[in-house]
Amino acid sequence: MADIFDLIVIGAGWYGLAAAKAYIELHPDEKILITEAGSSFGGTWSKERLYAGLKSNNLKGSYEHPDFPMSEDVYGVKSGQHIPAETLHRYLSDLATKFGIAERTRFNMTTTQIESRPDDTWFVTMVSKQEQEEVLHSKKLIVATGLTSQPNLPTYAGQETFTPAFFHAKDFCARGDILHTAKKAAVVGAGKSSFDVAYAFATSGAKVDLIIRPTGQGPVWICPPYVTPFKRMMEELLSTRLLTWFSPVPWGDEDGFGVARSFLHKTGIGRFIVDNFWNQISNEVYEAHGYHDHPELFKLKPWNSAFWTGSGVGIHNYPTNFFDLVKQGQIRVHIADIKQLEGNYIQLTTGEKLDTDALICATGWKKGSGLKFVNFDTGLQKTEAQTRSLIDQADKEVRDMFPILRAQPVLRTPAPSKEPLRNYRFIVPTQSFFKRNIAFAGMVSTVTTAVFANAQGLWISAYLDGKLERTPKNQEEVIKKVMLDTQFQKWRYPCGYGASIPDFAFDSIPYVDLLLNDLGIKPHRKSTQITEIMEPYKPRDYKGLTQQWLESHST
Ligand SMILES: Cc1cc2nc3c(=O)[nH]c(=O)nc-3n(C[C@H](O)[C@H](O)[C@H](O)COP(=O)(O)OP(=O)(O)OC[C@H]3O[C@@H](n4cnc5c(N)ncnc54)[C@H](O)[C@@H]3O)c2cc1C
Ligand SMILES: *[C@@H]1O[C@H](CO)[C@@H](O)[C@H](O)[C@H]1NC(C)=O
Repeated sequence: MADIFDLIVIGAGWYGLAAAKAYIELHPDEKILITEAGSSFGGTWSKERLYAGLKSNNLKGSYEHPDFPMSEDVYGVKSGQHIPAETLHRYLSDLATKFGIAERTRFNMTTTQIESRPDDTWFVTMVSKQEQEEVLHSKKLIVATGLTSQPNLPTYAGQETFTPAFFHAKDFCARGDILHTAKKAAVVGAGKSSFDVAYAFATSGAKVDLIIRPTGQGPVWICPPYVTPFKRMMEELLSTRLLTWFSPVPWGDEDGFGVARSFLHKTGIGRFIVDNFWNQISNEVYEAHGYHDHPELFKLKPWNSAFWTGSGVGIHNYPTNFFDLVKQGQIRVHIADIKQLEGNYIQLTTGEKLDTDALICATGWKKGSGLKFVNFDTGLQKTEAQTRSLIDQADKEVRDMFPILRAQPVLRTPAPSKEPLRNYRFIVPTQSFFKRNIAFAGMVSTVTTAVFANAQGLWISAYLDGKLERTPKNQEEVIKKVMLDTQFQKWRYPCGYGASIPDFAFDSIPYVDLLLNDLGIKPHRKSTQITEIMEPYKPRDYKGLTQQWLESHST
């Protein structure tokens, strides 16, 4: 076996790139490798996965690395515009080149297995496209394989007899020609990507049947780009400090405004104000879309309050109005399951029979890395009874802390009962915290990806070096924090991903505060108290974080 790497990063999407950038800057002379299953940079935004019309939900200025502004001269995107996927791909590839990542990357290498060695180093098994297996040895690992790498493709009765094209939205790029040939298309799913695919077909002239299962979480919350209070862009509301106070979160006090938060969540008047705040947001969206004015549109009205939803909220980023296509009948909505496929027909449980040229499943992703771990357990490593007791304690703590979470919405399908990822700060597996040899980047769902990727990247480097200013003192403390944070997620976002992976909406900036406080970096980045609480946080507010850290921690 060849010599040992200091660090291997698995995955070259947003999170892998940002983590590699920070680590390389702090350890320019170490032996570092980034391995990637695909053949280009960007993950979700890699060349292989671009499809017609795909754009970021984020607007220009909120989906860029703080240390690498997406200049309008180079990338041609103006402020107020959504970023085309091919531009994001180019931008992320340029980022990789600029920060020395490209020269350390190997593409077309799928990691299949990670084995923990007795000396706490790792054997990483990878398979090339030509099926060549290779085992590399590394002291440390950053796993950044993303939450959207393994498609979740349903199986249907009779699918072997089905003649039209049938695939997952992940392959929409590779199968893009279908847009020119299909006259009728069926799309399964209720999330933003099902809307994206339906929109692409409908605007290419196809008649679309959008099939939403009656037992799921219902249609995605989709917002007009501008929402009250203040008629601000939705993404800006989520990262305006004052508004983050309205969302209960255990690490809220990290922002230094614990008094305001206590008033809002722990007093009767406070809770009344909080309820109103959320109702106002929901009503504004309902009215803006006119769900109640048209029977077809009504089918797309979300089933639960936005309060319970988390990052799954979508934004209208289409050149024309999606809902007009529904009103005109170009997109027909069915709240039904697929009973059977046969020839070129889709039989629905409502009795309807749809004739189609294509069936695309925008049915989400399997959570988890898909990696096989040997001699390493990413879970709690407790007996079932011990785990149960830890869960009960944490649940009680969450309910006592935030009474608003006691009135849970009624779900049509119960949340998965599988253990969620139990990572410290949603990054480090509980059992290995004191070994400092592995971290997971990006095992979170948020709309503030760029800011998260940057903060997690630096935090991970500092953590692996044993240089965090604030860490738990012992394993017991690690478990206590992990349990509170992960159980909170389950209570907070039952209609989002909370039960399986951490989900973030208004709690995003407070999470970044938490990581910065661990690093000993001041989380308030604005120049005055007023801008601090009123002006939305953007990537540019975190410019130079790694340099700042280097200066204060050079030895
Ligand atoms: C269609 C679509 C649109 C989206 N739009 C937005 C948006 O507008 N705004 C937003 O904030 N978020 C958006 N998201 C979420 C988006 O995925 C995240 O913002 C971000 O790109 C995730 O980065 P990541 O690095 O965690 O994962 P990814 O981008 O998925 O990168 C993970 C990388 O790891 C590689 N990998 C996986 N498994 C292995 C393995 N075993 N071995 C080697 N390599 C492996 C993959 O090939 C991939 O390159 C969107 C997602 C999708 C699917
Ligand atoms: C990766 O594989 C693709 C095709 O599968 C190929 O076009 C590309 O050249 C490969 N890249 C590298 C760096 O080997």
